[in-house]
Amino acid sequence: MANMFPCDFAWGAGTAAYQIEGGWDADGKGPSIWDTFCHGERGRVFGEQSGDVACDSYELWEEDLKCIQQLGLTHYRLSLSWARLLPDGTTQHVNHKGVQYYNKVINDLLSCNVSPMVTLYHFDLPQALQDQGGWKSPGMAALFDSYAQFCFQTFGDRVKLWITINEPYVCAKLGHEDGVHAPGLKEPGTAAYLVGHNMLRAHAMAWHSYNSLYRPAQRGAVSLAINSDWAEPLDPASTEDIAAAERYLAFTLGWFAWPVFVTGDYPESMRSAIDAQSKKLGYNGGSRLPRFSKDEPSVLGTADFFALNYYTSRNVKPGGGCGQMLCMKADRDAEEVLDPSWPVCGVSWLAVVPHGLRKLLKYIKGTFNSPAVYITENGFSQTGPVQTEDVQRCAFYRDTILEVAKAIGEDGVDVQGYFAWSLLDNFEWSDGFSVRFGLFHVDLSKAERTRAIYRSGQEYAEIIMKHKTHTKD
Ligand code: BGC
Repeated sequence: MANMFPCDFAWGAGTAAYQIEGGWDADGKGPSIWDTFCHGERGRVFGEQSGDVACDSYELWEEDLKCIQQLGLTHYRLSLSWARLLPDGTTQHVNHKGVQYYNKVINDLLSCNVSPMVTLYHFDLPQALQDQGGWKSPGMAALFDSYAQFCFQTFGDRVKLWITINEPYVCAKLGHEDGVHAPGLKEPGTAAYLVGHNMLRAHAMAWHSYNSLYRPAQRGAVSLAINSDWAEPLDPASTEDIAAAERYLAFTLGWFAWPVFVTGDYPESMRSAIDAQSKKLGYNGGSRLPRFSKDEPSVLGTADFFALNYYTSRNVKPGGGCGQMLCMKADRDAEEVLDPSWPVCGVSWLAVVPHGLRKLLKYIKGTFNSPAVYITENGFSQTGPVQTEDVQRCAFYRDTILEVAKAIGEDGVDVQGYFAWSLLDNFEWSDGFSVRFGLFHVDLSKAERTRAIYRSGQEYAEIIMKHKTHTKD
């Protein structure tokens, strides 16, 4: 398996600022929508938990660095907290302590020969910008572009891999349709499409800024991280199920990848499904899926690589509405069915399907013109009592990495890196700390937040080591 991977393959693990840093109001940081969400109404987050302290990586970064070194990672994916750098979200007021913190993280990584992959936005909008309408507001795109340019200017001499926005699908749907993520809006069938649209515009503006102003000197690469399950027709012989599986992919992967990689616009099947449903329900506010303006720089071609977050797979058949209401599920008309042979780990949505990743990679190669791909997230969760000897997760990483090897060696997919999610057990959004994705366990009962490697962390370190030894020969 080792010889399938190119010698400069990125072996990484990822984290996100709100999930690990803590220090929620330390040293001049402004509040983000996740601070507000967790501190607000009860019952939104498991056990009323929050990321106020989390893994305390703001104080304990050096402990994280030891974990990174223990795994032998070549790359580490982290996100910047926008409100730590720019407390009110704008460049009018820079928090120099925040800049110092990330400078130290980036410099320490580089001095240990670990390349940073930096995400600008991983779910944590400055609250001050939410107060101005947040991602529903068209003006967010320009504000994001200023923030992105600030980061390119400040850190881009050293950071060569950038992700603008992590999982616009999740921000849009969980945050604005279902209301289970910050900012907790429940506006089914409308807000998510608007939010997704403004995120794509924001991403594209930042990419264009990088391309014309920073790339010539900094020579890095910029993309956005798109999450998608793999979807198969429940009955492979049924044309309805085949069409439902295609719609499922159009509404997750295609929603963001089609405009960026193929046409500059949304998949036609997505627009026609949304418009047909509007008609059926007598909605007459025009297409709920916005159109890209010809007066703005195109979103087409605004990714230097394909960044994929993959966790699970689904079998799909038509269905899954919400009565006579507008909602994304009814627009999509694709009901998810879990194959009983797939083990479910930790959380109910996470069926373990390593071979789905290979199929998705092959699909991406065929649909999006053979892009270079980084798997920017993939992982396996644990709930209940802590199992340090997490043999199932070990098998999961072995099996999944084997599927990646096959995608490279047998299907010819240009996969350039794999980032395990996550380096540490951390704040798993509305599940709080009850769901653990880490390669290291973090003891939340102790002020020192002691990190201890899981068996799966050792397994991943061995895989990386074998690869490095092999490619040295
Ligand atoms: C997110 C992570 C999250 C992980 C597991 C992804 O949706 O980017 O922040 O922890 O999935 O749920």
